[in-house]
This record gives sequence, structure tokens and C-alpha cells, in this order.
Amino acid sequence: MSSDPGAVLVLGGTGHLGRFVVAALLERGVAVRVLSRDPGRARAVLGDRVEILQGDLCDPASVAPAMAGVARCVVTVSAMSPATFRRSREIECDAVIAALEQGQRDRLQRVVLVSIFAIDLALAGRLGIDNARIKHDLESWLAASGLAWTVLGQPPSMEVLFAFIRGGRTMAVPGGGPPRLPTIAPQDTGALAADAVLRDDLHGQRIRLVAVPPVSFPEAAQRIGAVWGREVRFVAPPLFIPIALRWLLTPLAALNDKLGFVHTMLGYLRLLNAFPSEGLDADRERLATLFDHRFTTLEEEAEARRPEPV
Ligand SMILES: NC(=O)c1ccc[n+]([C@@H]2O[C@H](COP(=O)([O-])OP(=O)(O)OC[C@H]3O[C@@H](n4cnc5c(N)ncnc54)[C@H](OP(=O)(O)O)[C@@H]3O)[C@@H](O)[C@H]2O)c1
Repeated sequence: MSSDPGAVLVLGGTGHLGRFVVAALLERGVAVRVLSRDPGRARAVLGDRVEILQGDLCDPASVAPAMAGVARCVVTVSAMSPATFRRSREIECDAVIAALEQGQRDRLQRVVLVSIFAIDLALAGRLGIDNARIKHDLESWLAASGLAWTVLGQPPSMEVLFAFIRGGRTMAVPGGGPPRLPTIAPQDTGALAADAVLRDDLHGQRIRLVAVPPVSFPEAAQRIGAVWGREVRFVAPPLFIPIALRWLLTPLAALNDKLGFVHTMLGYLRLLNAFPSEGLDADRERLATLFDHRFTTLEEEAEARRPEPV
């Protein structure tokens, strides 16, 4: 770190990943500022060592005070909820760009963006997923912005390996998942993003976060079961079931936010099964050379999520 960074702003600091970025910055003795639509919830999630400003990224009047005096910023904003997913472009791209432009007019120099793992517009187009185009446009703006930027390509959080387990005994993944899925524990993304935003030697790099050896879902079920001391049975319902369901929901998706969100999530199940498998080992080697960090293993995450005995 070249000089005192001042307060680092974390946009999306209350989220699944953002809260770990905040914790990692605090651990490193850095002051942290967060903009949240719900400051009461933010305080409950983040504690009292964080400066929390109430506001919405889409409201320039609340963005200006958040950006004031900030030299370094981490962006972990997501609009992926039933209430906001239809406004993903406005929130995740347009409003983030407007906020960073506002920061540039003041002191902002360094930005770390936690983005999606890989930008494959052809695949996303085939699967009807808008998010890749949105992140592509944001990343393109960042690359041309004149800011010192780093993009972290986030794979599915390690949580995904547990999200498909029902009753602690059966992992059911429609389509079976890809042969090798990269994952990372959210606390490790937090540590890497905190290190990256404080460093000045990672400008212009897009880094895919392959933290631990990629696993298939059946292998994950077997390894989680070994930690929990019980069999976690793996089943792969056919992928055509969610595909057909998505097709049936298409006319209703535009009419109802909850159904629209389910429709979007069903698209992500197809993406999960088609997850990029090229270059994962090289990504992992590169990450290990760029950061001095010990990554959380699947076994450690399974231990932390051990089900209560029945
Ligand atoms: N989680 C994953 O497994 C995963 C996988 C791949 C990529 N990613 C990427 O990682 C990033 C973070 O994802 P996440 O899962 O951590 O997101 P998340 O848990 O859904 O958190 C969303 C965050 O965005 C903030 N936010 C949303 N709308 C806002 C608005 N209008 N104004 C201000 N803040 C707003 C929320 O703040 P408040 O609610 O406090 O206002 C919250 O802190 C995203 O770029 C996502 O695409 C995540």
C-alpha cells in the first residue's frame, strides 16, 4: 500500500461477499464506509466499526456523500433478488458507473470489481441470461475509465456445494453439474478483494478466483459426507425438467416478479451445467502466485456447516 488509503468504500458491503470484504478490511486496520438502502440491517450485519451511509445507488443525492473523499473502492453490488432483478442493468451497471464517475471527480483512483467468473456472451445469449452482457459493459467501461482497476472473476460461492443438499443426506443437482466446478469460500473472496484494493500492483488485471481444486458435485457429496460421518447420496434429476419448467413459465415471467425471478434462476441451472472448464488449473496457479493467502478447503467449510445431530 503506497500511503494511508483513508476510508475504503465497499459498494454492496452488506451482501453475501461484500460483508467479508468489509471484515477483511477491518482486520487489516483500514477504515471502511458502506452505502446501504437499509442502515439498520447493515449495522446488524457489519457491527459498529463501519461508517454506514443510508442511500440507494440509483439516487445521486445519496451517492455523492458516499463517494466524497474516497480514493479506493470495492464494488460487490448485485440486484439479484425478486424485487430488483428486472433493474439489474440500471443498478449493477448504470448506477455503479455513475457512482464511480462521481468518485473520479473527487479523489477516486483505485477500484476492485467483484464480477462474474467469465464473460461468455455467446453462451449467455443461448441460455437467455442478461447478466453477462451487463457485467461485460461495466467491465468495458472500467477498462477505459482511467481508474486503476482490477476485476475479480468470482466463481459460484462454495455455498453452492451445500445449497443442493436436502435433509443433510441427499445432494440433488439437476443435470448433475459440470465435471469440474471452481468455487471459493466467501471469506476468501473477502480477503482477496481487501488485499487487491489496498495494493497498487494489480492494475489492469482480470483474475479468475479458482481458489481450491475444482470439484464435481458427486465428488463434493462424497467429501462432505466423509466430514459429516454419514453418506450424502448424490442424485442428478434430468436437466430437461427445469428447462421445460422455464419454458412453461416464460409467458408468466413478465407478469409477476416472483415467477420472473424463478424463471431467471432456472436459466442459471443450465449455466451451472455448462460452466467454463478451460484453463482452471492455470487460473489456480496464477491466483497462488498473485496472493499470499491460505484458502478454505471444502472439508473446512463442511466442518463449519456440520448439521445438528437428529
Ligand atoms: N454470490 C455468488 O456466488 C456470486 C457468484 C458469481 C458472481 N457474483 C458476483 O459478486 C457480486 C456480489 O454478489 P453477492 O452475491 O455478494 O450479492 P448480494 O448478496 O445479493 O448483495 C447485494 C449487495 O448489493 C447492494 N445493493 C443492491 N442494490 C443496491 C442499490 N440500489 N443501492 C445500493 N446498494 C445496493 C446490497 O446492499 P443493501 O441491501 O444493503 O442496500 C447488497 O449489499 C456481484 O457482482 C455478483 O454478480 C456472486
